[in-house]
This record gives sequence, structure tokens and C-alpha cells, in this order.
Amino acid sequence: MKDTVKEIEDTSQVEIPPTPLERVIGQDDAVKLARIAASQRRHLLLVGPPGVGKSMIAQAMSFYIPRPKQDIRVVHNPQYPERPFFEVKSSEEIAAEKSEDYLYEGQLVDPRTVPPSVAERLGYKCQKCGFYSEFTEMACPHCGSPKVQTVAPGPFGDVFNVIGAAFGVQNNQDRVTSTVKIGEREEIMIYERAGDQIRVLDQRSLEKRRKAEKKSPSKVIVPIERSGFVLATGASETELLGDVRHDPYGGHPQLGTLPYERVVAGAVHEAHEGVLFIDEITHLGNLQRSILTAMQEKTFPIMGRNPQSAGASVRVDRVPCDFVLVAACNIQDLQYILSPLRSRIVGNGYEALMNVSIKDTPENREKYLQFIAQEINVDGKVPHMSIDAANMVIEEGRRRAFVIDHKEKELTLRLREMGGLIRAAGDIAVFDSSKLVETSHIKEALKIYLPVEEKIKKTYGNLSAAVSSENTISQKAEEYFYAYNNRDRIYG
Ligand SMILES: Nc1ncnc2c1ncn2[C@@H]1O[C@H](COP(=O)(O)OP(=O)(O)OP(=O)(O)O)[C@@H](O)[C@H]1O
Ligand SMILES: [Mg+2]
Repeated sequence: MKDTVKEIEDTSQVEIPPTPLERVIGQDDAVKLARIAASQRRHLLLVGPPGVGKSMIAQAMSFYIPRPKQDIRVVHNPQYPERPFFEVKSSEEIAAEKSEDYLYEGQLVDPRTVPPSVAERLGYKCQKCGFYSEFTEMACPHCGSPKVQTVAPGPFGDVFNVIGAAFGVQNNQDRVTSTVKIGEREEIMIYERAGDQIRVLDQRSLEKRRKAEKKSPSKVIVPIERSGFVLATGASETELLGDVRHDPYGGHPQLGTLPYERVVAGAVHEAHEGVLFIDEITHLGNLQRSILTAMQEKTFPIMGRNPQSAGASVRVDRVPCDFVLVAACNIQDLQYILSPLRSRIVGNGYEALMNVSIKDTPENREKYLQFIAQEINVDGKVPHMSIDAANMVIEEGRRRAFVIDHKEKELTLRLREMGGLIRAAGDIAVFDSSKLVETSHIKEALKIYLPVEEKIKKTYGNLSAAVSSENTISQKAEEYFYAYNNRDRIYG
């Protein structure tokens, strides 16, 4: 069948679609449902054998999900530190906060621009020769005399301290309080060391700082700058649902770390406003129940999950987790999905059965070609393929559709393995210093890249003959193996 593509000489000329869902070939139904699920925020279950594009579709969905608009924080609860609160801030509030922080942080200036006496007290200026240097230099690099008088305060020391105390700031080596005249008014100014610069805080920023100090401290556990796609495949309970870290000092106010600081979000919380993707969902076992609750409530408490840990007494209730669930599983495992979970997916979403093959038509051959070009591009280590070689890959796809799935005149969509064949042929071409992957490379790769079962069949005739002819050393060494083969003797 050479009717694939007429004008193209090799796969470098194949156009690759710009958006990730368009790069998924042969799964039109699943792709359509994924599009709907992403834009309407519905759940999605993808069912099918390995390597047909389930993860690819799930990942591509994140492209169509709007960026998160909120962050989630835990806030210290002074009355009951083990029950921190949560707080959600919108992007507008976060932006406002940032500009306030700017105010609160004051202005950074060059030490030469502040009153000389201040620069001297903070250790940026030599009192003797007037040379400016960093405060970390204890002696003036110019004249060698010591710069900072730590013991004896200067004549204005007391005055500075009185002014400082009135404003609730303690003067020390790192900070000096002073006044400046603005028009007729005298205004308080605080000067602080900030590396090779000096931070100047005026009255407004001081007030801001005082307010901030009064506010309960908080910690962002789910930042606004995050991906809208969270992969939770094979996650442990704590990774999935969050945790409160252990503190050997039990959160003792002076020695330990306060409970709110030890709270860690789970994947369900990180996926707030986005997609939570769980491949092989049945491997979660009983944790499926928690996913179910989280989906239903759209909130899930974070608590210490290790009863032996000091974190166990800490809990943050009702932390938001409004996610779209995209789950994948193999056909055989479908029965192990908890039925209430499945019913929630169906009740507010879709189930897609993945195709294992597509009809062998000229259009679908074009798609296959697109797939070959994509694999080569993504891999980045192998050259493109001549059109004859590509046709050979397509023929192999046709053969596999028949051998594996008994589909006649179809092309397999078990594409992970086809990708492996493409890379193997590419590696051989690289070894050959060939500019393109040619048919000879495909032929060689096909020999190497046979599934091991097919290799076994070639060597042993059939699989069961091979199995019965060989008992591995490790099997023989196993006690149970002895027991199994001698079970009549042992159990009577
Ligand atoms: N329909 C497809 N279109 C294009 N490429 C595909 C498709 N299916 C699989 N591939 C290729 O195979 C790779 C593996 O596919 P993917 O990880 O999506 O399989 P899966 O169905 O999630 O398998 P598993 O059940 O093992 O997790 C993809 O990264 C992609 O390169
Ligand atoms: Mg997968």
C-alpha cells in the first residue's frame, strides 16, 4: 500500500498540529469528551489498554483549563494553634497584597544618600576618613580604623533610642531611627541595613509593618502560580490528601515549629480549580473513598496522618479542593473502581472507551505519519524517516492490529510500542550515520524490537512449552516452590 502520502519524501515535511489534543490520533471520541470535560469542568474516565493515549489525553486537557485564580493559605490560630484556619485569596487580593508588601518593605537606597551620621551608625561610612564601604567590613578598608562602635553609643544614641522606643522599634546595630523635616513637619524615618543598601521606612510603611505584625501569620500551601494539572498516580495517602509534618518539640512556641507552618497540602488541594489526574485509579484501593468525598464536598480536611507523630493532633478543616477528576484504567480493572466513585464520574462527567485500532484508510495513514513525525520530534535524538520506511512502520501497525487485536485491515493504536519501534530504528540509523531512517533500519529494528513473547515463540515454538521447560534458579530456591511441587507429600 503506497497510497499514503504522495508529495512527501520524508517525515520532516509532515505538519504537526499546534495543540496537544490534536496530536492524539485515532481517539476521536475520547478527545471530544476530553474537550468538553475541560471546558465544562466535568469528570472523565478513560478506559483502555496500555499505550493508547490515556495519559496523553489527560495531560493535553490541562492546555484547555484556565489558569488558577486563587491561592490557599493556612493561618495561625492563636487561641488554638492545633486548629489553624484556612484562607483563600483571589489573584486581585494577592496583587494588592504585593503592592502593600512593597510599601511595607520600604525603599532601598544607596548608603551615600542617607544622612552621614546614619550611614556611620549603620557601619557603611568610616567616622574617621568618611570612606564608604559595606557594613560587613569591620575596619575601614581606606584608613584601617574600626568602623562600628558597638559598645559606646554616640552622643545622639539616647535621642535615637527614645524616638525609636516611642514608635515601638528597638534601635540596634542594624537599625537607626531618625527624623527628617518635610516642609514644616518632622517625620520619623527608620534606616535599616539591607546588604550593600539601606532600607528606608517612613511613617506609612512603619504603620503597615505594625499592622502586618499584628496579623496572624500565615503560610501559602497552594500557590497561585501553579499548574492546572496535577498528576497523582501512585500517590501515597499523604501525597494525595495532605499531611501535617512531625515536630519533635510538639509545636512548642519557642522551640518547635508552629502547627500551621507544618501543614502540607495534598494533590487534591493542589488540583483546586484544575485537573487531578489519577492513572490506574484502582491502585488507590480504599483511598478511592477519600477521592469520592473530596469530589462531593469540594473540600477536604488536612490532618496529620501518622498517629505516632505530633502532627496527628493538628487539623485544618474544609480546605478547598474543587478539581476535575480525570481517571484512567485498563478494561480488566474497571470492576475494581468503587461503584459510588464511578457513579459520581458518570453523574457529572463522561466515560470514554479508548480505541485499540483504526481503519486502514488513506486519511488514517496520514494520521499515522503524523504520529511517526511527532515521536521523532519528541524524542529529539533520532533522524526523520524516509517515506518508504514510514510506510513500513505503518504496515507493521497493520500487522499488529491483526496479531494482537484480531482486527483485519486496521492499524493498531497501541502506539507506545510503535513509538519504541520508531526510536529503535532511529538509533540504528544514528549508528549508521544515516541522515534518514531507511527501510533497512526498520527491518533491523523489527528483528530486535519484537515483543519478547514473539521472540519466545520463535525460539521455543510456543509460550507454554517455554514456560514448562524452564524453572528459574530463583523459583527452585524458593521454599514455596518446593512446597507447591510437593504439596501432596506435605499436606497429606
Ligand atoms: N493516540 C495516540 N496518538 C498519538 N500518540 C500516542 C497515542 N497513544 C499513545 N501515543 C504515544 O505513546 C505514548 C504513551 O501513551 P500514553 O502514556 O498516553 O498511554 P496510556 O494509555 O496512558 O498507557 P498506560 O495505560 O500504560 O498508562 C505517548 O506519549 C505517545 O507518544
Ligand atoms: Mg498512562
